[in-house]
Amino acid sequence: MQVDLDSPWSIGPVGIPSRIVLAPMAGVSVQAFRRQGRRYGAGLVCSEMVSCAGLRHRNERTLGYLRIGSDERPLAVQIFGSDPAVMAEAARMVEDAGADIVDINFGCPVGKVTKTGAGATLLEDPERAARIVEAVAEAVEAPVTVKMRRGLANGSRAALVLGPRLVEAGAAALTLHPRSAKQMYTGTADHALTAELVELVDVPVIASGDVTSRERALAVLEETGAAAVMVGRAAQGDPWTVGEIAGLVHGKPSREDVVAELLLFMHDTVEEMGEERATGFLKKFYGWYLGRGRFPKPFKQELVQLATLAEVEERLLAAAPGAAEHLERLRADTPALEHRTLDLPVSIYAGG
Ligand SMILES: Cc1cc2nc3c(=O)[nH]c(=O)nc-3n(C[C@H](O)[C@H](O)[C@H](O)COP(=O)(O)O)c2cc1C
Repeated sequence: MQVDLDSPWSIGPVGIPSRIVLAPMAGVSVQAFRRQGRRYGAGLVCSEMVSCAGLRHRNERTLGYLRIGSDERPLAVQIFGSDPAVMAEAARMVEDAGADIVDINFGCPVGKVTKTGAGATLLEDPERAARIVEAVAEAVEAPVTVKMRRGLANGSRAALVLGPRLVEAGAAALTLHPRSAKQMYTGTADHALTAELVELVDVPVIASGDVTSRERALAVLEETGAAAVMVGRAAQGDPWTVGEIAGLVHGKPSREDVVAELLLFMHDTVEEMGEERATGFLKKFYGWYLGRGRFPKPFKQELVQLATLAEVEERLLAAAPGAAEHLERLRADTPALEHRTLDLPVSIYAGG
């Protein structure tokens, strides 16, 4: 039965106010992105994948991913790795950092991750995958969820074999991105497979892949019977699409809207990771925000060439002078970046 996008649901004891989940995306899902997603109607947000080995070694870059503000919650932090004991230890750190949900990555198709036996490799190693979920579920009070692809090879149905086993092992919800690891992001997400998974398990299933509009979100919920949809690439530089899916935004944003949101995003990101790293990190966001016919193409090229964020800000405000006032209004409506739950060094993003 299809559900309303704005109806509440839950994963274990964690209440979630809408059926829209913001996808974990490496090099994208920073605090600023997650907070913005919440403001535009996402009911649950997720960190990018965090290496359990990095957490174990107290790697500064990795620890930085555990910054959580209370205004982001409910929030899941996603971990990846292949050793059940190390994953369990990482899960405890994630829970201590304030995450409401510990999510496990069984979907990353990138060689750097799969060659260590983590990510999508685990889709075809059900024994180990189940042991990881069991160890993590045992280690934390928070609900444990798993995000999967369909399998390694095109056409694989591995997720349908693995899903029920993971629920038995303690998974409180499953997310399926029904593309194979081999496919990466080509082709389309085969949500007929998501519908099959929904039939097989008695925990909520989140449908990930190609949800780009409210119309599509409703169609995917109807087609699959999933509890929620996840929005990834469509939210990059485009909180208005998240808002449209949530029924909060109607029509396209003005140039002032775009520049004000981008500036707020820039300021939050600087606060989060420091100016030096933010300067490089933000470059890909300029194209995402300013594209889609919102500004002429050469404008983005110009911003990417600028050496400092102050210069970028100046150019943005010159292109949309009304944005300054707009930004002030946004700021007034947005709580200041919270003090963090853990006292951690400034994060350094690896990107993805
Ligand atoms: C840049 C990028 C980074 C991603 N990083 C992660 C990640 O860290 N963990 C994860 O489970 N999925 C990751 N994904 C997959 C997304 O969460 C999502 O499942 C996928 O993009 C399909 O959804 P979409 O069509 O809405 O983008 C990433 C996707 C992109 C585009």
